[in-house]
Amino acid sequence: MEKVVDKKNFKTLKGTISIPSDKSMSHRAVLFSSLAEGTSIIKNFSTGDDPHSSIKVCSALGADISFEDETTVIINSDGKLKQPQTELYCGNSGTTMRLMAGILAGQKFNSILTGDESLSKRPMKRVTEPLSLMGAQISSDEGKSPLSICGTDLHSINYTSQIASAQVKSCILLAGMQTNDNKKTIYTEPYLSRNHTEILLKHMGASIVTDNNTTTIEKSELKPINIEIFGDISSAAYFITAALIIPNSNIIIKNVGLNPTRTGIIEVAKKMGGQIDILEQREICGEIVGDIQVKYSELKACNIEGEIIPKLIDEIPIIAVLATQAEGQTIIKDAQDLRNKESDRIKTMVNELKKLGANIEESADGMIINGKTQLTGNCSVETYQDHRLAMSLYVAGLICKKEIIINGFEWVNISFPNFENLFETIKH
Ligand code: S3P
Repeated sequence: MEKVVDKKNFKTLKGTISIPSDKSMSHRAVLFSSLAEGTSIIKNFSTGDDPHSSIKVCSALGADISFEDETTVIINSDGKLKQPQTELYCGNSGTTMRLMAGILAGQKFNSILTGDESLSKRPMKRVTEPLSLMGAQISSDEGKSPLSICGTDLHSINYTSQIASAQVKSCILLAGMQTNDNKKTIYTEPYLSRNHTEILLKHMGASIVTDNNTTTIEKSELKPINIEIFGDISSAAYFITAALIIPNSNIIIKNVGLNPTRTGIIEVAKKMGGQIDILEQREICGEIVGDIQVKYSELKACNIEGEIIPKLIDEIPIIAVLATQAEGQTIIKDAQDLRNKESDRIKTMVNELKKLGANIEESADGMIINGKTQLTGNCSVETYQDHRLAMSLYVAGLICKKEIIINGFEWVNISFPNFENLFETIKH
């Protein structure tokens, strides 16, 4: 689907919006509830395709899942997954596949995890290797999916990961929760990645403790939950950026998850001089939630590297757009894992922003962006089947001198089906 974006249709962004449900939390809520005996109620579940892949996989594994309305999910489970009758199709969702691999490795049956063209190209050795150390019987296609899993008894490990990945960490913690050797599984990562798994598992009764970058888990049973999922900071990032770079904008984004392992975009935007205020901070199931006010700002470049990277890994495409409007040179480093996302986000984002007139170069582990540049547009850009490319390029299109055409815009449905409509409500 082609989308035309033209800045002539509006002057500024003003108003209050509610952002859709957090994708990472939606996945975890449905996966963990399927392992808990009893009835769980999840409100404000994501309407994105990815969390729905998790629902389909859990249903195929015997969880009784129904919708009370579009975003309220009821899960009845006896806490035991059943042998699936088909392959488990994870669609585009790396989170579904990698977390499910940890769950299925310790079950009493065999299963096969598959995915779409993009997911089938993404690295799975990062989960198959540590799972094998736990005794899992799991085979891949040269480190890629499909993953064939013969469920078996797992034993605990003390594992230090080379990458700060919440998907890998969650996979190993979910496997560690099923071990039978009365020992603890200890997982250490180089920098703290998003910790929703740790917080939610603890909330559901798991025996889990975190100390800096090390998390320890023991064999645990989960209790069902009643949870209302907060808005996704990764979705809010497009609105935050747009308001910062479109003159005279002033918006409030309500009910956004503000877990410090996810708020790198706010830290960076503030460092660049962005006027961002957090209003009405509160707590939901151990997670911080608040409203964010963002105003148009004069921005200056900054360096983005090291331990902040996992806190903004999904926001780097939109941060690249932000950096084109900041005075000076923004250098993004230590983000090589961006090449393993839904597309090689270093290459794809640099390619497409160049077409729009940005002064941006690729490096092995990031990008170098020189600003401030008036983006020209007057061209078409590609999304590479990547939802975050589609949304980032849309925001870039809002500040281009001439219209742009985004090919493959339908990929926004992976995480944010209502993306454009929500923008329309604040365009004035
Ligand atoms: C996610 C973790 C991150 C992120 C992805 C969602 C999660 O991936 O990029 O969109 O929900 O755990 P990695 O763990 O591969 O960094």
